[in-house]
Amino acid sequence: MSFMQETPLGSVIQGSLSQGLEVRLHPDVSVEEMRVGKFLVVQGVRSRFFCLLTDVSLGTANPRILANPPRLEDTLMREVLAGSGTYGTIELAPMLMFTPIEGQRWGEAIAHSNGNGLASYEVQSNAEVELQPVKTIPAHFSQVFDASESDFRTVFGWEDDPHRRNFSIGQPLDMEVPVCLDLDRFVERSNGVFGKSGTGKSFLTRLLISGIIRKQAAVNLMFDMHSEYGWEAMREGKTVSTVKGLRQLFPGEVEIFTLDSESTKRRGVKGAQELFLSFEQIEIEDIRLVSFELGVSEAALDNANILYSEYGRSWISQLLHMSNEDIKIFCEEKQGHAGSIMSLQRKLKRLEGLKYLRSVCTHNYIDQVLQCLEVGKNVVIEFGSQSNLLSYMLATNMITRRIHGTYVKKAEKFLQTKSPSDRPRQLVITIEEAHRFLDSSIVHQTIFGTIAREMRKYFVTLLVVDQRPSGIDNEVMSQIGTRITCLLNDEKDIEAIFTGVSGGQNLRSVLAKLDSKQQALVLGHAVPMPVVVRTRAYDQQFYREIGITDWVAMADEEVLAAAELAKADLGF
Ligand SMILES: Nc1ncnc2c1ncn2[C@@H]1O[C@H](COP(=O)(O)OP(=O)(O)OP(=O)(O)O)[C@@H](O)[C@H]1O
Ligand SMILES: [Mg+2]
Repeated sequence: MSFMQETPLGSVIQGSLSQGLEVRLHPDVSVEEMRVGKFLVVQGVRSRFFCLLTDVSLGTANPRILANPPRLEDTLMREVLAGSGTYGTIELAPMLMFTPIEGQRWGEAIAHSNGNGLASYEVQSNAEVELQPVKTIPAHFSQVFDASESDFRTVFGWEDDPHRRNFSIGQPLDMEVPVCLDLDRFVERSNGVFGKSGTGKSFLTRLLISGIIRKQAAVNLMFDMHSEYGWEAMREGKTVSTVKGLRQLFPGEVEIFTLDSESTKRRGVKGAQELFLSFEQIEIEDIRLVSFELGVSEAALDNANILYSEYGRSWISQLLHMSNEDIKIFCEEKQGHAGSIMSLQRKLKRLEGLKYLRSVCTHNYIDQVLQCLEVGKNVVIEFGSQSNLLSYMLATNMITRRIHGTYVKKAEKFLQTKSPSDRPRQLVITIEEAHRFLDSSIVHQTIFGTIAREMRKYFVTLLVVDQRPSGIDNEVMSQIGTRITCLLNDEKDIEAIFTGVSGGQNLRSVLAKLDSKQQALVLGHAVPMPVVVRTRAYDQQFYREIGITDWVAMADEEVLAAAELAKADLGF
């Protein structure tokens, strides 16, 4: 048992469970030290309350002071007033409470441990504590303290906890302790990384996926729109520098597939595999998703259905080869609309120009991706020059639909046999520009809406990365388990983050006051309470901490491949 003593910062003067607590700061405590997002503890008689600071304000006891403020040079007057006439107040949102064993009161523990009358509390460092959601609030004049390191550990765990797959994603604002995500809880629901441009979403995503790979919480499939996850990526700063991609951190555990092998080669990426898709793998759903980008109308899509029922998988190749005469004859027989089909044909001609699309492919590249995932290898799909929305959405949807289909079959088999060896490996699919796939108008027709809504049933979840969360369908948003949010300015976007979060209003001010880089509000399923973190740096030290490859577990040829990569990396 260890005992801790802290000086109280203030006392609770009023509040409610729904609106939060108002705390009057003690005279010697400066309001300027009270930053929004800070983690504080209120010591009640029976329970200890873990709270987030949501607002700071100044108060005066007497309006006459305001009417007649002390002059600049009158420091004595200021000091006399401070604490009695003028004071600081803070608003706290209580998030969790911890009540010790039945019958024992904090008050008794204090009296027992400390006879000098100082407020102090007792921490049983090795006791199994149970944190509960707040169901009540502390009494009048309960004392408020800075959270201690052990409070943090109690709430956010530690990275090497042998009973959990914890991953530290950063530190609180004013202390050097890790804030951990429980990765098992993280990957079992769909999650989001949000924030406006340049706030650190891609860096956070790279951190999170590194953690998932390192702790083997799931296998990853990443649709890497800007080619920044697999291999080197640029780091903005005073000087241009680069950071390592996941294949460099985890050689042997990450495969890169590319839709533009020339670009991938030019960037010096080692060991990437090409990926081609064929017209035969395109379904009407895929075209519907990119109908805006292609300029395909609703009427044209209806006619696509007629073509599909006639020609099946070869509908696009057939259509692209039809003359106007052929189309007219087809329409007379099949009740199609010639004008719509001709327009559809014109629009789909654009697909012929896409580098990674072939009219037929003898080899099924999606199967190859699937095989990697099945043996537990993480896959990053690079787009290179094919990073426009048309290509990104089309390829991402085509590949995901197939992979999800396979997972559904596997999960159903597992449900039937219940044999642990049939249990599918948890899969996390990362997509960028997520609102394009999850917009209310299309979410019911795309595979991503399905995955987000069916939750963990089939062992597939999403990691959505987006700068415009307000563009994501509300129902999908409320299924997002953990939300890691960097700075957002737009009111609608801030609003969207709190969809389906009770007490979310209290947190708005916290979100709006984040620094513009490397800070995030983390809330949801994988953390016990909302918390603001200074994001863990993705740098040399992180590489050393995370990227330890288990050489012994690797097959010989993988060790060789990894050694090659390492050599290339050092410039041999
Ligand atoms: N965890 C981190 N470690 C080190 N640097 C970081 C971190 N987070 C952010 N940065 C810095 O902030 C810059 C912008 O981050 P990032 O590229 O992740 O932004 P983004 O939100 O993905 O932007 P966009 O929406 O434009 O893609 C990085 O280039 C890097 O310099
Ligand atoms: Mg980015």
